[in-house]
Amino acid sequence: MKECYVQRIPEAVQVAIADLIPPFQEEVPGWIISRINTPWQSRNRGFGSRLLDRICSDADYERVWLWLQPLATGQEMNGLNQEQLVAWYKKFGFKVSKDFPTYMYRRPGRAK
Ligand SMILES: CC(C)(COP(=O)(O)OP(=O)(O)OC[C@H]1O[C@@H](n2cnc3c(N)ncnc32)[C@H](O)[C@@H]1OP(=O)(O)O)[C@@H](O)C(=O)NCCC(=O)NCCS
Repeated sequence: MKECYVQRIPEAVQVAIADLIPPFQEEVPGWIISRINTPWQSRNRGFGSRLLDRICSDADYERVWLWLQPLATGQEMNGLNQEQLVAWYKKFGFKVSKDFPTYMYRRPGRAK
């Protein structure tokens, strides 16, 4: 896993970016995705999905869990709203935690 993933966007200066925090305590046995953002001009063109797909592939390969707190911040600027964001993460295998309902987690699947 890496602490930062970037996805280049053809003909754009900015990149889609994700920051990750390594496991730091027993209670959270996995990596936390602390930020994921696509520049607003380039949203809804698949760049965020490509970025998250690479993170999930690495997590599968290294057999690690992923955690995140879905919090939509860009709905005024072509971003997904809260409901769409949760649905988007579910497509990558994330589930809402029963114990910590503001969190979603993803178990490692079969490495591609
Ligand atoms: C959440 C976020 C990172 C998604 O990034 P994105 O680059 O727009 O994501 P994608 O384009 O891959 O996917 C978004 C939608 O576009 C659609 N899409 C995917 N590929 C596409 C393509 N090639 N062409 C057109 N649409 C596409 C997807 O179907 C998806 O819709 P869905 O909700 O039905 O799955 C972006 O909305 C964002 O930066 N938001 C602001 C920050 C934020 O809220 N971050 C989350 C913090 S937890």
